[in-house]
Amino acid sequence: ERTRVVVIGAGPAGLLLSHLLDRFGIESIVIDSRTREQIETTIRAGILEQGTVEILTDTRASDRVLTVGQKHEGIELRFAGEGHRIDFADTVGRAVWLYPQHEVLKDLVAARLAAGQDLRFGVTAERVEDAGTSRPRIVAKDAEGNPVEIEADVVVGADGSRSVVREAVTGTYGGYFREYPFAWFGILCEAPPSSPELIYSNSPDGFALISQRSPGVQRMYFQCAPDTDTEAYTEEQLWEILQARVPGTTLNEGHIFQRDVLRFRSFVAHEMRRGRVVLVGDAAHTVPPTGAKGMNLAVADVVLLTEALRALLLDHDETLLDAYPEIARRRIWKAQHFSWWMTNMLHLQPGASDFDRMRQIGELRTIVESHAGRAYLAEAYTGWQFEGGL
Ligand code: DHB
Repeated sequence: ERTRVVVIGAGPAGLLLSHLLDRFGIESIVIDSRTREQIETTIRAGILEQGTVEILTDTRASDRVLTVGQKHEGIELRFAGEGHRIDFADTVGRAVWLYPQHEVLKDLVAARLAAGQDLRFGVTAERVEDAGTSRPRIVAKDAEGNPVEIEADVVVGADGSRSVVREAVTGTYGGYFREYPFAWFGILCEAPPSSPELIYSNSPDGFALISQRSPGVQRMYFQCAPDTDTEAYTEEQLWEILQARVPGTTLNEGHIFQRDVLRFRSFVAHEMRRGRVVLVGDAAHTVPPTGAKGMNLAVADVVLLTEALRALLLDHDETLLDAYPEIARRRIWKAQHFSWWMTNMLHLQPGASDFDRMRQIGELRTIVESHAGRAYLAEAYTGWQFEGGL
């Protein structure tokens, strides 16, 4: 089989790329090892930058983000027993939207299928062949174990942090890597939001984040040891931990119907492109979750890559594809820094001294008590301008 662009991974990056390419009449095939049901029900991120929302709505990928999603014009930072609002409207005149990633995926899958996209679930990529040529190939297996081979002008790895495509791009060189001595214990519970906006709390017991998914469901996280078992706590114990980490607020409690433990990593691949094989999103980089940059960074890559592929495939102009890694990396490292900074400012380091704790409170005060400090956080949180505007 042949197509112009074969996209490995039907997450936000892969589906959005096929959607944007289609607007230029560029044909693609998207494959994913998971089922449609798995993709549309797995709970992932929740916050969309304003630029991400604009891309989704301007290109008609999702209208529901504006009706079902909720605009948030601030967050609360809580420490030393007090809450401080970071007002996005007042500082940078921008906002974010709370709209779960799996809802974005439902919208994208529906839009792609309605447009006649060749979108194949249950097809597992095994390797890329002829990566250095102008006709790279993806070798895969379908759900029944039958071999699938697709040749294309360009192979795009949008297949997440355990990317199969990455090896064909980076060889054995890997990337820049950092680990953290903690993880997040995440829960979903049946109760209305405890606060109108998200609360990022630095408490003496460690970090907690109070988020939401819908008017009847809350998403909450608390800092835990990386090896914590999801069944380590009873529901009652989970509420005790969460309540203690947001002193000053009484959280609305309800049945906890999902638990997960999220590992923290920072990663940037040394290479994002080899010839006609390109990486986007988590396949190329991973950020720790604090600050909600992961999905938004994937969208920024895709916007840039769409322009590069349009130039290559419609105008035979390779200069934008040549420039793609370098331009993408500028934003990637800004997002890496922001995610690292938010993480370190808000979490309790194992073995932290009293000095370290007090310094952290001083750091938080320099942010919340200064217009420039609040604007700095708000600018990064709501997202920098996308490059390669469509
Ligand atoms: C959520 C996750 C984040 O990492 C974050 O910074 C904000 C919200 C969430 O899942 O709701």
